[in-house]
Parts: sequence; C-alpha cells; structure tokens
Amino acid sequence: MIQGGARLRGELPVSGSKNAALPMMAATVLTSGTSIIRNVPALRDIHTFSQVLEYTGADVSFDPETHILTVDSSGIDTPEAPYELVKKMRASFYMLGALLGRFGHARVSLPGGCAWGPRPVDLHLRGLEAFGVEIELDQGYVVARARGGRMRGGYFHLEPSSVGATVNLLLAAVTARGYSRIENAAIEPDVVVFGEALQQMGAQISGLGTRTLEIYGVDTLNPLDVTNVPDRIETGTFMLLAALAGTQDEPVAITQAEPEHLGEAFLEAFSATGTPFEISGSTIYVRAPEVIQPVSIETAPYPGFPTDLQAQWTVLLTQARGNARIKENIYFDRFKHVPELRRMGANIIVIGNEAFVEGNTPLKGAHVMSTDLRASVSLVMAGIIAEGETHVLRIYHLDRGYEQLEKKLAAAGIPVERVTYDEWATPEPHASTRTHE
Ligand code: UD1
Repeated sequence: MIQGGARLRGELPVSGSKNAALPMMAATVLTSGTSIIRNVPALRDIHTFSQVLEYTGADVSFDPETHILTVDSSGIDTPEAPYELVKKMRASFYMLGALLGRFGHARVSLPGGCAWGPRPVDLHLRGLEAFGVEIELDQGYVVARARGGRMRGGYFHLEPSSVGATVNLLLAAVTARGYSRIENAAIEPDVVVFGEALQQMGAQISGLGTRTLEIYGVDTLNPLDVTNVPDRIETGTFMLLAALAGTQDEPVAITQAEPEHLGEAFLEAFSATGTPFEISGSTIYVRAPEVIQPVSIETAPYPGFPTDLQAQWTVLLTQARGNARIKENIYFDRFKHVPELRRMGANIIVIGNEAFVEGNTPLKGAHVMSTDLRASVSLVMAGIIAEGETHVLRIYHLDRGYEQLEKKLAAAGIPVERVTYDEWATPEPHASTRTHE
C-alpha cells in the first residue's frame, strides 16, 4: 500500500545478485564438500532453490541477516527436481546440467511457460544431447542419461544466445570427459561471475565474457567459497526510481552497487534522459532531472538494454517530456504491466512487440495486480509517483527478486506498507457510489 507523491531521499542499498546466486547454488551439486556463498539476497527464489537442493539430499542453511548461504552437498543422493519446485521458478532447471554432472543421469521437471509467453528450453536439451546425453520425456519430466554413465565434451552453437542454456551447458561441460566448446554463449555479468565461481572450484574454462567458451572437463571440483556480486537489475530499478521520485537538489545514493554491470546501452539511454548521475566507486548518486527526455529503447542481450528493466523504463517514459517507443526483442509478449499501468492513467499502446508510451501523463492511484517480478516493481514505482493511494496486489512476485523492498523504500522516505488481504473477500460497496435515502 503506497501513498503517492513523496520524494525519495537518502540511500538505497543494493542486495546481492539473484541471477548470479542461483547458478552458483546449482554448482554446489558438482562437489561433495561444504560450499559457502556470501552476499546472497534473502529472496523467495533463493528459498525455492534451497528447497530444490534439499530435495536432492543437500543440507542448506541460510542466514538472512548475514546473507551467508552454506550448502553441504555430501549427502546428495536423489538426481531429481520435482514439478512442484520447478513450476515455482524456471531456474530450477539448472539442476539438469548439475545433476547430470554429478550422477550421469537426472530426472527434472520441464518448466512451464510464464506470464509473458512460452519460454522454451529446447537449447538446453539440444546442447546436452551434443554432450552425449540421451533425453526422453516422461510425464512432463526430462529423463536424461549420459551414454556410458558420464558426459563427453561436445560443441554447441546457441541461437539465440541464452543465459539459462549457457549456465546449464557450463554446469554439464565442466566435469564432462574432454573438450567442449559453447558458441554464441551469453556474456551477461551474472554468467561471467558464475563461470568465475566454477573456475574457483577448479573448472577449466576460458573465454568467459566472450561469445565462445572453451572447457576442459575435470574429474572433481572443490567446494565453493565465494562472495556474490550486487544485483544489476535492482541497481537499474533504483536509478530509474530516483530519476522519477528523487529531488533536484539532494541526490539519492544507490550504494553497494557494481556500476560496470549495468551495460553500455542502459547507461547511454539513462544519460540521454537528462538525469544527472555520478558514479563514485560502488555508489551511484542520482538526482531527478528538471525534465525527463523521452528516450526510446529496445531490449537486447548484454550489453544491450536488459529486458528485465523494460517495465521500469515504461514507467519512466510516462513522465517524459514527449512520446517514446519501447521494442521488446527478447520476450515478444512481455507487456503484462501495460494494462495495469493504464488503470493508473498511463497512455500506452502495444502493437506487436512494441509499446508506444505517451509522456507527460500524471498517474493516479489504483488497485493493480502484479503478474510477474519486473511488472510488479514497475507498479510499485508507478504508485510512488501517482496521486493518492495505490495497492499493488500479489506481491509474492516482488518478493521473488527484491529483498525487503518496502523496508528499503520506507527508509528512503516513501510511505509504503505491506498489508495482508483476502483476495476472495466479498467487496463492500464504495462510499461514494452508495445512495442514502
Ligand atoms: C534469464 C534471466 C531473466 C532474463 C533473461 C533474459 C535468470 C534466472 N533469468 O532468463 O531474468 O529476463 O535471462 O536476459 O538468470 N530461448 C530459446 N530456447 C531456449 C532458451 C531460450 O529459444 O532453450 C530464447 C528465449 O525464448 C528468449 C532468449 O532465448 O527469447 C533468451 O532467453 P534466456 O537468456 O534463456 O532467458 P532465461 O535464462 O530464461
């Protein structure tokens, strides 16, 4: 529940990266000792992945205060990831590569679609086949078995480049027998950081951060002991919020960030909006601009504009000095936030994979529904700049990727509260429409 119109002041600390922590957690399956990952964000997705690991027999402990996650992998004895957990979070599919590496066989539920489209895993499966894995489908599960009991190195070209498939193939290749090459690999910072974690475990990988990865399989890997990087999407989200709701005189300090991970396209587009910002080490100071210039963007793999910041950019554009366009090239249907923003008064038209956003549009508070993680934070941002009160419902989506957002925002001057509600309660007539005779 947000009271709109307050200004953002002070500090917003960035938590650890969700999308780097998840594959690192999967990597712990490839070793038999106790791994330690520091700066792990306290998020629902981390909790879900912990459950996935525990299901296989790992012992996982996480302290949300210190953000230290410990995984003892010595007891892993069940090469399976069940539907009940994979359906909650697609990244659970990373268990396929990890369990194949450990056991030579695995049974992992196929993820379903998601709120904004089909999201296939064909590249993950075809890539594993290139590593000598036989794949069958059984009751919605992928049943995978390496010929001869251990994967062998192979070549695979990813088209399109995929973060998830790169992670799964890396997990498979690091202990496969012999040499592997992954072409058109993802170069997202989360993937690079994950690859470096594998190297620290003893994996032989070269080419991290380039489109071609070469891997020499090793027989065993050591436990992981690593500090996770800051979340680049949370960082970008906070920068956009500061541009929208900050002040012109006092900058908002976004702390514990890794500005280099934001990528060129986002930084260029953000500068082009006219928002004054300064980077000093791991802090980004952002002031609200006098006017927000309308800057059109299109999403692309890193270092292109991240699809995970597209919904937040849409909110920024509603306040820009003119109209602008957003083109979504990664997930063509990822516009579920648009109808909700329209309920708050935004003028946005979606045609195909493009959204045309009218600027200079004051937003008004409303009850709006989260459909996915980034849509949900975009609604919170809209609520902060809207006139009156906004209720963002189904914030379990928000909790998947933003750690204690309401606490961070409240500490930075935004009147926001988490309240429970009964989604199925019978609505009461609104006071203003009731006639009194
Ligand atoms: C990851 C991120 C997600 C982000 C996305 C794009 C995690 C846990 N999630 O998701 O937040 O939005 O990258 O940056 O890190 N594709 C195929 N076949 C496949 C796999 C992917 O066609 O087998 C396509 C997808 O439909 C999409 C493109 O490849 O068009 C990129 O998707 P991908 O990079 O795989 O996204 P995820 O890893 O699922």
